[in-house]
Amino acid sequence: MKLASVALAAAAAGALVLSGCSSSDRDASSTQSADAGFAKDAVIGVALPQKTSENWVLAENLFKDGLTQAGYQPIVQFANGGVSEQQNQIQAMIQKGAKVIVVGAIDGKQLGTQLKAAHDQGIKVIAYDRLLENTDAVDIYQAFDNYKVGQLQGQSLLKGLGERKGKGPYNIELIAGSPDDANSKPFFDGAMNVLQPKLDDGTLAIPSGQKTQQQAATQGWEAENAQNRMDTILAGNYKNKELHGILSPNDTLARAALTSVKQAGKPTPVVTGQDSEVESVKSIMAGVQYSTIYKDTRELVKSTIDAVNAYQKGDEPTVNDTKSYNNGVKVVPANLLTPVIVTKENAAEVYANDPTLAPLTK
Ligand code: BGC
Repeated sequence: MKLASVALAAAAAGALVLSGCSSSDRDASSTQSADAGFAKDAVIGVALPQKTSENWVLAENLFKDGLTQAGYQPIVQFANGGVSEQQNQIQAMIQKGAKVIVVGAIDGKQLGTQLKAAHDQGIKVIAYDRLLENTDAVDIYQAFDNYKVGQLQGQSLLKGLGERKGKGPYNIELIAGSPDDANSKPFFDGAMNVLQPKLDDGTLAIPSGQKTQQQAATQGWEAENAQNRMDTILAGNYKNKELHGILSPNDTLARAALTSVKQAGKPTPVVTGQDSEVESVKSIMAGVQYSTIYKDTRELVKSTIDAVNAYQKGDEPTVNDTKSYNNGVKVVPANLLTPVIVTKENAAEVYANDPTLAPLTK
């Protein structure tokens, strides 16, 4: 055994005594390995992207509180300035001796150098919500099932069109997320898996002709970009047509699209969303935005902290998907949570245990 391993094993054994766990809680061999865990009060880094939706803002305090309560010293940071700021933050977390770094990447392809440096020091790397790509320096992916999110959005668009716009055929437009976010592709592909057959059989048409993820992309997930694009599409293609539906990948962009349509003086289309943001839930209850997705941030942060706790003990965290997330270099073991579709119909039921959203459904 190398010296470092002995030190680690000793530290972990000490941590076990301090935390009151019995050594029978885990197998003896794991205490001997270099993966023997770390001290209960270790530094844990959480690198979040920009505040492009409410779920990231919620995650900040949930991580700070949850990690502090578990005994760790959290460093939780947003990178509002962009990719290089996030790279610097991860580098600083390594220097401060973090034992686990949780990353919600702005651009999952641009952190390879920093993540390799982390792994070289034995730091565990957790991809949070967004996959880390083109690197083998990632241990686990904690997220909601992104492809399923897209499928639910596609299904709800069709359901909403049937309910609100009579018999087809229907004119729709597509909005996709930011191209640097690894989630944008599974969201789009999941939705198109449902919508493509309806485009093929003529139930749906896309008058702008902008059918690919690339054409529909919204750089930086910025509302302004989606709204400008929708303004142009409406001006160029909908002089004498109704736009019946819009596939929107999240609530921020859904509201931007609805603003654009309203300003063009057109009837309200069926619009999907994601994140259950307060303004969108209000809009759904008022009968404007058609649907959203509930991805309870409390659940995702909790399951991520569970993974940190597993590493602390020298164990492997729980995963439930070992095939879906090939990041270009390896298949990243994932622990996927289940997203839920929400319309006015089921909102009260879905948000029943959410203190912020439940009152909006009364
Ligand atoms: C998240 C979405 C969010 C989007 C913009 C995605 O990676 O999964 O929930 O709406 O980023 O912040």
